[in-house]
Amino acid sequence: MRKKLPKLLVTGGAGFIASTFVRKAVEKGYRVVVIDKLTYAGDLTRLRPVKNQITFYKTDIIQAQKIDDIIKKEQPSAILHFAAETHVDRSLLDVSPFIATNIQGTATLIDCARHHRVPRFIHISTDEVYGEIPKGSFTESSLLHPNNPYSSTKAAADFLIHAAVRAHNFPAIIVRPSNNYGPWQYPEKLVPVVLLKALSGQKIPVYGKGLQVREWLHVSDCVEAVLLILTKGRIGENYNVGAQTTKKNIETVRTILSILGKPHSLIQFVKDRPGHDIRYSLNADKIRRLGWEPQISFEEGMKTTAAWAVDHYDWLSDKLKLLQDYWKRVYYPKK
Ligand SMILES: NC(=O)c1ccc[n+]([C@@H]2O[C@H](COP(=O)([O-])OP(=O)(O)OC[C@H]3O[C@@H](n4cnc5c(N)ncnc54)[C@H](O)[C@@H]3O)[C@@H](O)[C@H]2O)c1
Repeated sequence: MRKKLPKLLVTGGAGFIASTFVRKAVEKGYRVVVIDKLTYAGDLTRLRPVKNQITFYKTDIIQAQKIDDIIKKEQPSAILHFAAETHVDRSLLDVSPFIATNIQGTATLIDCARHHRVPRFIHISTDEVYGEIPKGSFTESSLLHPNNPYSSTKAAADFLIHAAVRAHNFPAIIVRPSNNYGPWQYPEKLVPVVLLKALSGQKIPVYGKGLQVREWLHVSDCVEAVLLILTKGRIGENYNVGAQTTKKNIETVRTILSILGKPHSLIQFVKDRPGHDIRYSLNADKIRRLGWEPQISFEEGMKTTAAWAVDHYDWLSDKLKLLQDYWKRVYYPKK
């Protein structure tokens, strides 16, 4: 029988990226414990293939006593901290859950991990903490300059990690991935919104003229990078993870419509998001030097994600029903 690898505690494991990480980690032989509050964005369906191989706690990461008890009981070799409020538009409507989960939740996890001397802590941050870059790419030593409430709370969490590393030799590593896409993404983010709206023949809201540039990374390439950093990353370091596939949003929308054979007339330009960052781009040389290379091209990744969306139309459209009211407030606000 294959030897079991160390035990990992994954926060936010019922979310889009972390559930992909959990499925992959179980496949590789890790024992996995998941903590998730199951907010609107969490869904255990994503963990169905591994549900008998993991331990699941429905818990909020800001509940210090509960987190402490779980770490004491489970004795993980590493914590992978993915849990967050993640949608920029929601943070513009109400920042309070972002402050609670992304800042207070991260502080609670740092305290509990220190208390139980967890040997490694991988903090999942985002490229958005750097702010926008009209030309060139951010390196790990670029200054943080977040421009929206979501990225501001993520940057605050990065600073808390940095302070714990410096003051207490906290064994943490920060990972900053670019925009992820792939199966099981919640349909409030660009790619699944376009897929779902296009498949149901609805208008597709595109902010401004769709000229913002995003760097796309397939979720399976992202989780491979996190797994590599877990074993080969250096404590106290930051690692950017990006595939250097920058596209204007309108190009991404048109690519998806063409893959699905849907008319581009479905595109509807709407009032731009306030303070919208114009361009993100990461220099990922540092993680490439650890041996990581993205395996999935933008074109191939979008095709397989579109095929997944066709097969999982019911899952996506169930979420759509929950989102109707929210979309009205975000994309079509009252004058
Ligand atoms: N999606 C992207 O493109 C992207 C890019 C870069 C970085 N990230 C970062 O990666 C991580 C995962 O992003 P995602 O898009 O997969 O997220 P997601 O929104 O799909 O999932 C977040 C998960 O966290 C859980 N959660 C939220 N608040 C919690 C709390 N207080 N306690 C416990 N669980 C809680 C939710 O229930 C959900 O399962 C986040 O830290 C995000 O900032 C995401």
